[in-house]
Amino acid sequence: MSYAAKVVWITGASSGIGEALANAMLEQGAMVILSGRRKDALAAVAAQAPERSLVLPFDATDYARLPALVEQAWQWQGRIDLLINNAGISQRSLALDTAFAVYQQLIEVDYLAPLALTQAVLPRMVEQGGGQLAVVSSVAGKVGTALRTGYCGAKHAVVGYFEGLRAEVEEAYGIGVSVILPGSVRTGIAKNALEGSGAARGRSDANIENGIDPQVAAQTILKGLSERQHDIVVAEGMELAALQMRATDPEPLFKITAKEGARLAQVRAEQGAGASVDPGAVNQ
Ligand SMILES: NC(=O)c1ccc[n+]([C@@H]2O[C@H](COP(=O)([O-])OP(=O)(O)OC[C@H]3O[C@@H](n4cnc5c(N)ncnc54)[C@H](OP(=O)(O)O)[C@@H]3O)[C@@H](O)[C@H]2O)c1
Repeated sequence: MSYAAKVVWITGASSGIGEALANAMLEQGAMVILSGRRKDALAAVAAQAPERSLVLPFDATDYARLPALVEQAWQWQGRIDLLINNAGISQRSLALDTAFAVYQQLIEVDYLAPLALTQAVLPRMVEQGGGQLAVVSSVAGKVGTALRTGYCGAKHAVVGYFEGLRAEVEEAYGIGVSVILPGSVRTGIAKNALEGSGAARGRSDANIENGIDPQVAAQTILKGLSERQHDIVVAEGMELAALQMRATDPEPLFKITAKEGARLAQVRAEQGAGASVDPGAVNQ
């Protein structure tokens, strides 16, 4: 199935995976609604096909604006065929060094925001007789890893919400629900990640810099969406193996992640609480 002339709403379209997805959708001829906070970055994406783009900037946690924003999105073409909840923020801090406010922010941006937007769009999709919903979770939404307790919690939570929603709407209303599970993709995710104090990390890490090209990730996601795959896995190497081990034979995986935790505890002992640490191989 092609998305030509379909109306596709992408959050987090101002950079990384969302930007690459928006570019790929526009290349296919889709009508694309571009959201994120940075209006200029969204406008730059829209510039490749202004007549098929609607720039709709908002902070994903600004829930009070959602009814008006959904109305605006709906009025643009009179339908919304696919909503991709992609906006998100990651974490790079040990639980011992992480403020409660950081957990709150991760739950807001990575769990409650996609839930709130989906809840606001859902009645329109039912009204129009079908559609597609997607969320970008993570390998960390299936596998618990060090330095990401809040991120893993929020990314596991979206898997639960969207799988539950799928049970309610797939057959009943013809609404497809896809959960996207990337491993490391080369974007600003690590640089923008929260440290234990809530400050942005400000630098990337080796996993992400050696990760999958966002354009390659976007093509895998596009194929998965067009086939209405339930789980769309965008991972390779150890991260793909971790996903498979978690589902089939988790104990050896728990041993590997515990060793990584021990290594990080050693770094913390040497460098002090709150030291900015780099994740090892089994991380996303
Ligand atoms: N890259 C990876 O290795 C990886 C792996 C697994 C999962 N993921 C997930 O993939 C998704 C996209 O991340 P990315 O890798 O492309 O990272 P990114 O380059 O940092 O992009 C994050 C996007 O989310 C938007 N965003 C963040 N906070 C927002 C907020 N409060 N309100 C509105 N928009 C917000 C940003 O837009 P503005 O700054 O304009 O607001 C940006 O477009 C995230 O959900 C992430 O968790 C990424």
